[in-house]
Amino acid sequence: MSSKKILFLNWKANPSSLKETEVLVETTNHLALLVKDKLDVIIAPPPVYLLPLNHSLTSGIQLASQTVDVTTNGPHTGSIYPALLKENNIGITLVAHSEDRAKKQLTSEQISDLLDACLKNNLKAVLCVGEHQKGDEAIKEITQDLDLILDPIITKYPTSFITSAIDIAYEPLWAIGAQKILDLSYITTQLLAIKEYLIAKLTSSPRLFYGGSVDRSSLKQILDIPEVDGVLIGERSAQKEWLEELFQSVI
Ligand code: PGA
Repeated sequence: MSSKKILFLNWKANPSSLKETEVLVETTNHLALLVKDKLDVIIAPPPVYLLPLNHSLTSGIQLASQTVDVTTNGPHTGSIYPALLKENNIGITLVAHSEDRAKKQLTSEQISDLLDACLKNNLKAVLCVGEHQKGDEAIKEITQDLDLILDPIITKYPTSFITSAIDIAYEPLWAIGAQKILDLSYITTQLLAIKEYLIAKLTSSPRLFYGGSVDRSSLKQILDIPEVDGVLIGERSAQKEWLEELFQSVI
């Protein structure tokens, strides 16, 4: 497995046209080449662009789905399910991004089922967790959620398989889309606590990502945190100039 850190670009519902997407892909191809010795890039575009992008990414960039359902093929209108993604060479998906959680009102138990469906289909799951409010109670909220999600999974799969099949993305809800100046010492403390929890739970830790308000002023510092294996960056990464500045900060 590559030991490079990950830059995960979650474009959310952007760009709004295929033409714009193609321009952005060309830019991302170029930028990913410039950082290829340090970073691996993953893009999660809107679902309609997954297949066109699969044919136009040239720099070893991987594609991810922004969401997944527990279903299989059949009468499930609107469903994006693990086997469908795998069949179409999409090997990674976000699971329970906070915007997806809120929209579908997902419970931790339902998220556990989503994770199970990914593991069954060998689809890499990037499981998103994070507290609502910054503060002392945050780690309790996160670990309670993770207990409910992971406990049923641990009864079904060896922990060594789980740690390689999932990544955990720590994305505090108060930081997502907020464009805040980040408190790096708080984030580091949280990441350390999550890592300790994961090692206690699973013997070793899955890769751990951070997401929420990361920009060119904080990217390098966050990537330098030893506990961080990757960074998730939201819809501003679908703006060409902003993306160029972001990559420049780590070249
Ligand atoms: P942000 O979002 O970079 O816009 O804060 C991160 C995310 O939603 O994954």
